[in-house]
Amino acid sequence: RSDPTHPASEPDASRPLAFAFDIDGVLKAGNTVLDAARRALAILEGNNPLGRRVPYIFITNGGGPSEVDRAKNLSKNFGLEVKPDQVIQAHTVLQSLTKRFGNKPVLMIGGPDYPPGASRTVMNGYGFEDVYTAHDVHAWAPSSWPFSRVPEAQKAALRHADFSKVKFSAVLVFHDSRDWGRDIQYICDVLRSPAGTFGVVGDDTHPQPFLAFTHADLLWGNDFSAARFGQGAFQTAVRAVYEETSGRKLEATTFGKPQQLTYEYANELVKNQLSVADDVRPSVWMVGDNPASDIAGANNFGWKSALVRTGVYRDAAGPPAHKPTVLVDDVEVAVRTALKREW
Ligand code: G3P
Ligand code: MG
Repeated sequence: RSDPTHPASEPDASRPLAFAFDIDGVLKAGNTVLDAARRALAILEGNNPLGRRVPYIFITNGGGPSEVDRAKNLSKNFGLEVKPDQVIQAHTVLQSLTKRFGNKPVLMIGGPDYPPGASRTVMNGYGFEDVYTAHDVHAWAPSSWPFSRVPEAQKAALRHADFSKVKFSAVLVFHDSRDWGRDIQYICDVLRSPAGTFGVVGDDTHPQPFLAFTHADLLWGNDFSAARFGQGAFQTAVRAVYEETSGRKLEATTFGKPQQLTYEYANELVKNQLSVADDVRPSVWMVGDNPASDIAGANNFGWKSALVRTGVYRDAAGPPAHKPTVLVDDVEVAVRTALKREW
């Protein structure tokens, strides 16, 4: 009972309360866990006027590990048990594509290179059985991108193939590209090839192969003093180069926040956390640092939102493009403010 300033009333049982946290810029700055984050989660674990645990999930446009590994990581970060079904990463929703592409060759772009092969393993775990990486293509034809080389450490994790014969049915940008130049080249190569193979460029009249990005954040916040380019910046670059070279509009699907599909997925996790029936509409507060991503998505989905000042959003840039329910200094204030409003 840490906050004696507000006498709690009995909450509305028909609208059970839950929280959804963004991670980068809200709970963490780079690898550093914010103290306010530890306190915020302690409040939800029971250190509150009602002494009650309030369920919560994490929705990040970050990614790399599997949801199981990410949950382990978060558990370590916050010193409490986070379960995989509390975690949605940018690429979690790619699983909705396995019916369509699960047994077809897909080119995966981006994601952590270390440990070698780990990103492919995550995709395999989702149910994509035939996944090739940009390193695989690069190893097959070093002259396809002569400005960098496949790192020695990646060689044991390669899948070898003749990529003039592999017909890619989709390009899936799993997470941030580690080599923008090579990856933009390879995405355009597949999209511009009539059969989705490498080494042949057509006349750009064929149906464009399927392309997905896992989020569109132009910027994100870490422990550097200014916001950094995110996958949205990479998408902007891909689009510009593809449209310039092909003369066609780029067709692409984007997942992650603020997309509806990601929030629908999140809403299911929230309901599981609350163990409520299908027709119950929980009262969910999203705490985020990026107005265009976290706040826009929450507002569209009918959630309440708290925008914090510890990440992408800065007061100096003027009022946020998407208006949050509350604008607060950090995640602890966000949680306290939301509880006061709800209870
Ligand atoms: O690439 C990560 C970044 O775009 C955002 O992560 O946790 O702020 O959604 P998060
Ligand atoms: Mg963020």
